[in-house]
Amino acid sequence: MAKSALSIAAFYRKTTMQFSLKSGSAAKGTAKKVATTFILASQTTSEAAYISGSSLKQLPTAVQSQIKAAIASERFIGAAGQQLSIFSDSTHSQFVVLGVGVINDTATTARQAGSAIISYAKQYKISDASVILDDAISTDAALINHLVLGAADANYEFDAPYAMNGKKKTAKKEERHLTLLLEKTATAEQKTTFSQAVGIASGVALTKHLGNLPPNFATPIYLGKVAQDLAKQYKFKVQVLEKKQIAALKMNSFLSVAKGSTEPPRFIILEYKGGNAKDAPTVLVGKGITFDTGGISLKPGAGMDEMKYDMCGAASLLGTFKTLGETKPKINVIGLIATCENMPAGNASKPGDVVTTMAGLTVEILNTDAEGRLILCDALTYAERYKPAAVVNMATLTGACIVALGHHHSGLFANNDDLATELQSAGQTQCDTAWRMPLDDAYQEQLKSNFADMANIGGMPAGSVTAACFLSRFTKNYAWAHLDIAGTAWKSGAAKGATGRPVALLSQFIFNRAK
Ligand code: BES
Ligand code: MN
Ligand code: ZN
Repeated sequence: MAKSALSIAAFYRKTTMQFSLKSGSAAKGTAKKVATTFILASQTTSEAAYISGSSLKQLPTAVQSQIKAAIASERFIGAAGQQLSIFSDSTHSQFVVLGVGVINDTATTARQAGSAIISYAKQYKISDASVILDDAISTDAALINHLVLGAADANYEFDAPYAMNGKKKTAKKEERHLTLLLEKTATAEQKTTFSQAVGIASGVALTKHLGNLPPNFATPIYLGKVAQDLAKQYKFKVQVLEKKQIAALKMNSFLSVAKGSTEPPRFIILEYKGGNAKDAPTVLVGKGITFDTGGISLKPGAGMDEMKYDMCGAASLLGTFKTLGETKPKINVIGLIATCENMPAGNASKPGDVVTTMAGLTVEILNTDAEGRLILCDALTYAERYKPAAVVNMATLTGACIVALGHHHSGLFANNDDLATELQSAGQTQCDTAWRMPLDDAYQEQLKSNFADMANIGGMPAGSVTAACFLSRFTKNYAWAHLDIAGTAWKSGAAKGATGRPVALLSQFIFNRAK
């Protein structure tokens, strides 16, 4: 297992590609010098390719005329996926015109364009490329954001810290560099958007890496080390509490989940101070179940490997902190992670056990598989000490949330409408959307217990809502939102892998709140 801080850092460095932005006079002539330059062509409603004139004039004359000929012959129509590759004999460089199709939605098209560039670069082993950004898709800063994030998403490949596919674990990963070329001098907005997008991309890559790591690698101890490594790299304050310290805080509910495992739990506290000392912080809380067997209420065997992703809330928190470190917004952010395994064992929690939470409320554990809320409730109580401006928790909390929303939107629950709106709009900006779900008192009834203040399950109906209701009992003293990312944090099937969500949503939310 990769335990040293250095090897931890090396992994996420390798999964991040490099981006540059060149504009105005600095961009001039670049298209003729680099090995490969991409030009984007959209498709008009009359099925003709559209390439901006300002893009064309940056290319060697011979290349320009070939492109014009291809368009005039109506064989290159700018359809999505269409490619036209031209080599210039004068400059020995390559020009690839990529069709992006008819544009319905700028963000989606920009993401697909970024992804198409990287697929091409992977296929032809191109490590250094540039792309001319013009009005073929759009002229607003969002184009930069989505092109960067689409490219980074497509570039990601799981970098195993062990031998795989004949590659040694020390194999050097190919580096990839993409330069965005803007004809006019970049505006302040374009520059900020660019650096924020690059920052988000590195956070997303870390989150994917941590999520994808096998559960015997991504243990609670390992997550603690990643937090310490990030803290060292970006000068965050960090504390990684061990079992004794967690017990001293009276986080009995959290410890009841951890106790059936031989892997010790960790409670991680990260502090990013980009704002004034007296500014109330925004607190993020992540569910870090590094493997969820269900405990004594054991899950069925099929697909259980995917419960390694039950730490994706924690992984998204660590990824978001990486973004903060890269982008340094003017805001104070605290990160809290409760992390442990949920295992069946002779000393594991049993259905019927009653635990006293850090808040003093008692819980009857009717199902040991509803463990996420048991670890989060104590972390949410801990959050009170910061007198937070807002608290947002991220958790792969319920299968019921997948039944309700599928894999498109994360479930959003909140006790504060303004906070909910902020998160929804940040998600919209980043194509990392969340859908507001109900949280009315009527649902609280389902948590009634004959033997404690509440039960940890509310029965079949509205399972994701009653899980949120459970958390809401511990968040009465601040503005709070809960993101149920069970359906969005990873993909199953042939494309099995972490998505890095909701790092983009959270990062945008924080950027919007910063001064
Ligand atoms: N981690 C799971 C939720 C989950 C399941 C996420 C499948 C993604 C895919 C959580 O700890 C859990 O097991 N929840 C139970 C709650 C139930 C016992 C009330 C569930 O959803 O079945
Ligand atoms: Mn569970
Ligand atoms: Zn779980």
